[in-house]
Amino acid sequence: MLHSKSKKDGAPIDKNAFPKDFVWGVSTAAYQIEGAYNTDDKGSSIWDKFVTKKGAIYGGQTAQVACDFYHRYQEDILLMKSMNIKNFRFSLAWTRIIPDGEGIVSQAGIDFYNRIINFCLEQDIVPWVTLYHWDLPQALENKGGWSNREILQWFENYVEVCTKAFGDRVKNWMVLNEPMVFTGAGYFLGVHAPGKKGLQNFLPAVHYATLSQALGGRIIRKNVPNAHIGTTFSCSQITPNSNEKKDLRAAEKADALLNRLFVEPTLGLSYPVESVPILEKIKKYIQPGDMESCVFDFDFIGIQNYTREVVRHSYTVPYLRAKIVKATKRKVQTTLMDWEVYPPSIYEMITKFSAYEKIKKVIVTENGAAFEDRLNHEGEVNDLQRTKYLQDYIGQVHRATKENKKVAGYFVWTFTDNFEWAEGYYPRFGLVRIDFKTQKRTVKASGKWYRSFLKESKVLANQEKNILSN
Ligand code: FCB
Repeated sequence: MLHSKSKKDGAPIDKNAFPKDFVWGVSTAAYQIEGAYNTDDKGSSIWDKFVTKKGAIYGGQTAQVACDFYHRYQEDILLMKSMNIKNFRFSLAWTRIIPDGEGIVSQAGIDFYNRIINFCLEQDIVPWVTLYHWDLPQALENKGGWSNREILQWFENYVEVCTKAFGDRVKNWMVLNEPMVFTGAGYFLGVHAPGKKGLQNFLPAVHYATLSQALGGRIIRKNVPNAHIGTTFSCSQITPNSNEKKDLRAAEKADALLNRLFVEPTLGLSYPVESVPILEKIKKYIQPGDMESCVFDFDFIGIQNYTREVVRHSYTVPYLRAKIVKATKRKVQTTLMDWEVYPPSIYEMITKFSAYEKIKKVIVTENGAAFEDRLNHEGEVNDLQRTKYLQDYIGQVHRATKENKKVAGYFVWTFTDNFEWAEGYYPRFGLVRIDFKTQKRTVKASGKWYRSFLKESKVLANQEKNILSN
């Protein structure tokens, strides 16, 4: 049995060492698991289109079938239950609910998510719903997508529909998934859907996503009694490559862009323009009253951490003059995504976000790793590297709880292997292996470890029973 030492106290990690109400779960996203890309009324999303673009996805793969979660959700949720997982984060596909992005609502789409939500509740699993995990309706992208200010009305309408349909049973909501990634990779670098590039696409997308985030929060608050409302941010510890002034400045810029850009306006702190002067240009898209509308009092902030980045000065990088030193060049342990394995990063990010006075609570809404998995002769996956990764990162989360940081939950990315965006099916992140030819599910060693980690301790359960019967 593998144990990880939490750096601080040297003890093996034990769930009972965390606060009693600490939330444990798994995270997924609609496009990465559902498949059924044109079943019933479903409209086309920017990812449905992007995957057909030559050279866009590793091996020309698509998510037309993916994990076939659309048809196999019962099997997967039952498996989750058997692994003692009590909280399931998934996202809603806008194109199932409103196929053209605006206008007609699909009852078949609403019914599908009702089936999932109801089945979760029957199995005693709490649904955590993300409203937007990157799959914008293509019909809206045709009108400019996130770079068009009209997204505010489209998004408002979508959130109204979702909260009215599911808000009686779903209490945990997240508005956006990683706005920095979907605007940066999708509207600046062009490596994710919709494949757009340049500041003229990126900056309006940033501002309208920031506005949508707060707007979404307000609609949830209005429509859902007792809602627990969050939104999620990608974040990585940034380490300067040296103590030279140039590198320190480069690291400051990277930190502002990767870790501060979206959270600060939400807290009323505006965009971090002093650290990244090029952001001045965002002013062009800001209308009177906008900065007030960007603010929302979230109940929790979801942070998603996988790695850290080392950053150095570079004359050749336009706008930023800062560059990431690739982990593969630094002789450190990396995952299949070429991300450095660096557990203290999650502690640093919890610490960083906890330090904002206005953040009430932090939940790690994603953390996990892709490694080369092999089925052995017994048909098992002995993924010791992933198990150790999870143990070490959870150990660092524990360190943060002991120091009374605001962290209140942790979700593994992800439940089953799935479609990893531009990398296709190559990097496997799951606690459960999927054979994509047969759709067979096999719980990996990491999944078995998580199952035993999450198991209610008999001693505690008995103590509780005694208290209740006295
Ligand atoms: C995050 C995404 C998630 C998944 C993981 C590996 O950036 O939110 O969908 O791709 O990375």
